[in-house]
Amino acid sequence: MAMLEVNNITISYGDRPTVKDFSMTLEPGKICSLVGESGSGKTTVIRAIFGLLPGGGKVTEGDILFEGESLLSYKKDQWRKLRGSDISMIFQDSGAMMNPTKRVGAAFTEYIRTHENISKAAATKKGIEMLERMRLPSGDNVMRSYPFQLSGGMRQRVGIAMGMTYQPKLLLADEPTSALDVTTQAQIVRQMMELRENYGTSIIIVTHNLGVAAYMSDHIIVMKNGVIEDQGDRDHMLYHSDNEYTHKLLDAVPSIGGVRYV
Ligand SMILES: Nc1ncnc2c1ncn2[C@@H]1O[C@H](COP(=O)(O)OP(=O)(O)OP(=O)(O)O)[C@@H](O)[C@H]1O
Ligand SMILES: [Mg+2]
Repeated sequence: MAMLEVNNITISYGDRPTVKDFSMTLEPGKICSLVGESGSGKTTVIRAIFGLLPGGGKVTEGDILFEGESLLSYKKDQWRKLRGSDISMIFQDSGAMMNPTKRVGAAFTEYIRTHENISKAAATKKGIEMLERMRLPSGDNVMRSYPFQLSGGMRQRVGIAMGMTYQPKLLLADEPTSALDVTTQAQIVRQMMELRENYGTSIIIVTHNLGVAAYMSDHIIVMKNGVIEDQGDRDHMLYHSDNEYTHKLLDAVPSIGGVRYV
C-alpha cells in the first residue's frame, strides 16, 4: 500500500472543474514534484490533499487515501490531529502566513503547544532546537524577532522548521523557494533533502523550476490546464520524454552563472 494515493480526483471552485482526473501515488521516503505553468492547478492539488481548499473549492470526484484512509471524509478534529503531525504544508511565502504582530517565538510555542501538552519553557526550547536544525543562527534571537525583522530566507526557514517539528510523514511544499535568491534556494532545497534522509519524510514539492524538480525528485508530474500532461521518473523526464511541453519547460530552465541547473 502506498502512503498516499490520489485516485482520479476532480476539483472544482465553481461549475467548471479546475483539476480533472488527477492521480498520483507516493511511497514513504519518496519525493515527487508538480511542475507546470501558472494556473495549471498545482496549488489546488496539494491544498486538496491537505484538506485546505479555499472557499468554494471541492473535490467532486475520486478519492484521496493517506495510509489507506480516505481524507475526504475526515472531520475537523481528525484533521487537527493529522496536520502538523502526519502531514505538514510549507506555503509559498511563509512570511505572509505569519501574524505580523506576534513574535516568532510566541507563534511557534503556541503551535507546539497545540500539538503537545508541555510548558511554555519546554516549547520554547523545542522551537529553538528546530530553528537551529534549520541552520538559523541563534535561534533564541529569531524567537524574539517579529517576522518583518527577518529576511525572506529566514522566514521561509522558520516555516520549514515549524512544518518539520513533528517529523511529518508527508511534507507538502508549495513553491517553498521561489521567492528566494539562488543561494538561499539551494540551501533550503538541501535542507529538505536532509529531512528525507534523516526522517524518511515523503515530499510533494510544487515548483516552477524544473531544475529544482530534477535535483530533488524521484518522480515528476507536469501539469497543464488542470490535467497531467506528462509524468515519469526523473531520468525519464529529463532525458527520454518525447512530450513537447516537457521539452519546452526544460528549455526554460535558467542557467546560473553559465551552468544549467539540470
Ligand atoms: N479560491 C479560488 N477560487 C476560484 N478559482 C480559483 C481559486 N484558486 C485558484 N483558482 C483557479 O484555479 C486554477 C488553478 O489555480 P492554482 O492556484 O491551483 O494554479 P497553480 O498551478 O498553483 O498556479 P501558480 O503557479 O500561479 O501558483 C486557476 O485558474 C485559478 O484561477
Ligand atoms: Mg500555485
